[in-house]
Amino acid sequence: MIVKKIQNLLVARASLIYLISEEEERVERLVSAASAKVFGENSGVYVWSCLSGLTKGKEVVDPTTDPVSALEAYLRVKDQFPLILKDLHLFIDNNVALIRQLKDCARHLRRSRKACFFICPDLRLPRELYSIFKIEDVPLPRADELGRILETVISARQDADLVRKALTNDVKEKMVRAAMGFTANEALDAFRTAFITEGAVNPRLVDVVLAEKEALVRKGGVLEFVHAPTGTWEIGGLFNLKKWLKDRGRAFSPDAAKQGLAAPKGILVMGVSGCGKSLCVKAAASYWKLPLLRLDMGRIYDGLAGPPEEAMRNSIKTAEALAPCVLWIDEIEAGIANQQQKAAGGSESRVLALFLTWMQEKTAPVFVGATANEVEVLPPEILRKGRFDELFYMGLPSKEERLEILNIHMRKRNIDVSKFDMAYLVDSTEAFNGAEIEQGIITAMYEAMAQKTELSEHMLANALRNIVPLSRTMRERIEKIEAWARDRAMKASRSAF
Ligand SMILES: Nc1ncnc2c1ncn2[C@@H]1O[C@H](COP(=O)(O)OP(=O)(O)OP(=O)(O)O)[C@@H](O)[C@H]1O
Ligand SMILES: [Mg+2]
Repeated sequence: MIVKKIQNLLVARASLIYLISEEEERVERLVSAASAKVFGENSGVYVWSCLSGLTKGKEVVDPTTDPVSALEAYLRVKDQFPLILKDLHLFIDNNVALIRQLKDCARHLRRSRKACFFICPDLRLPRELYSIFKIEDVPLPRADELGRILETVISARQDADLVRKALTNDVKEKMVRAAMGFTANEALDAFRTAFITEGAVNPRLVDVVLAEKEALVRKGGVLEFVHAPTGTWEIGGLFNLKKWLKDRGRAFSPDAAKQGLAAPKGILVMGVSGCGKSLCVKAAASYWKLPLLRLDMGRIYDGLAGPPEEAMRNSIKTAEALAPCVLWIDEIEAGIANQQQKAAGGSESRVLALFLTWMQEKTAPVFVGATANEVEVLPPEILRKGRFDELFYMGLPSKEERLEILNIHMRKRNIDVSKFDMAYLVDSTEAFNGAEIEQGIITAMYEAMAQKTELSEHMLANALRNIVPLSRTMRERIEKIEAWARDRAMKASRSAF
C-alpha cells in the first residue's frame, strides 16, 4: 500500500516528499522498492547523511557533509533515481541557505523525475516550506509486510525447512496478527525472541509475540493494554448508553464492512465522577470482544514519552495498527489548552488539533471511548459533529438505577439479595454515585468479616449511611455540569434531564 503511494508520488513528479516515520531503515527499503517499480529493477537510490556524504550503493558520489551542497550535487547527477536525505530536520532550523536551496530545488526538480525524500519521526518543517512539500505519514507495517518479516526470520534459521513444515498456517497468521502495531525491527525482534524462547514450533509462539507487544506498548509510556474480562456487561442503569453500545455490537464484524457500514468512531462520555464513565468504555470493549488500549493524556503532555505531538502521532499509529480495537482516553480534557495557551499556540492545542483531525478523517476501526469531567473547558471543536458519534451525559443514578447497581455489586460478591430489604437500601443511597454504592458494600463486608458474622442488612445500611456522597459537597458543581450538558449531550440514563 505505502509502496504504491510512494510510487504514485514519483510518477506524479512530486519533488520534495516528507515521510513521517520513526523507521528509517524500513522507509529506505520502501522508497527503494517504489523506485524499482518506477525505474526498473536495476535502479538505485541516492542517500545522503552528514557522515557518509552523498552515496549510491557503495559508490560515493560526493563526500560533502553539508546538505546544501548535497542537494546541489544531486541536481547534477544524470539519472533520475530518488534521493533520501537523512536527519534533515536537524539541520533545517534557522538554516537560511538550506531553506533557500530547498525552494530552488523544488522548482528545478519539477522539470525532471527526480525526487528528494526526507524521513523524520515528526513534522518539523518551517511553515513556509509546507506548500512545497508533499507530506505523508508512513503507517506501521501491515499483515503482508509482517508476514514477509516472519519469513525472513525463519529463513535465517538453520532449521528453516523443519520450522516451515511444522508451522501451521493458523499459528503463522496468529503470530502476524499478534505483531500488528510493531515497527519492522520490533517485529523482527519479537519473532526471533518467540522462536528462541519456545525452542520448538508450537502455538505458544503467538503468546510470546503478544507478551512482547504488551511490554513494548507499555514501554512507550503512553498506551497500555487493559485486560477486561470478555463478554461481561455489569452496568446498572444507563439504559440509553447501553442500548447505543449494544446496537453497534456487530459494527466491527466483517459482515458490517461488507454491507458498507463504517465502524462507529467513538463516544465522549461526560459527567459526574464515579457514575460509570470509565466502566462503560471498558464494558464496550469487553462486550465487543475487542482489545482495549488506554491512552494517558497526562503522559503525552508531560513530555517523558517524547515531544507531545510525536507521542500522540505514535499512539494513533499503534492504535490503528491494532484495529479493530477500543482506544480509551480518560479525562480527555486534562491538559487541554485554555484560551490563553491556545492563543499562544502551545503544544497542547497542537496535540488536540492532531487528535481531532484524526477523529474526523480516520477510517481504521478504532473506537474512541473518551471521558471528561471538567466539561466547561472542553473546546467547541471537540464537540462538533463528525468527531464523536455521540456525546453522553452521565448524572447521578435514579432510584431504579441504584437498585440495579446494588444488585450487581451484591451478587458479584455472592450476597443473597433476597435476604435484604432492597427498597430500604435504595433509600439509604439517595444521591450516591455507583462507586459510593460499591464502596458501601465493600466496607460492610469488611465489617462482617471482622465481626466473624454474616453480612446483615443493618451493617450494610450503616456502612452506606456513613458515606458522605460527593454530590452533597459538590451539588452546585453537579448542577452546573448538568446545565451545560442539557443542550449538548444525550443522557446516558433513560430518565429525562
Ligand atoms: N452504573 C454502574 N453500574 C455498576 N457499577 C458502577 C456504576 N457506576 C459506577 N460503578 C462502580 O463504580 C466504579 C467506578 O466507576 P467509574 O470508574 O466508571 O467512574 P467514572 O465515572 O469513570 O469516575 P471518574 O470520573 O472518577 O473517573 C466502577 O468500577 C463500578 O464498580
Ligand atoms: Mg473514570
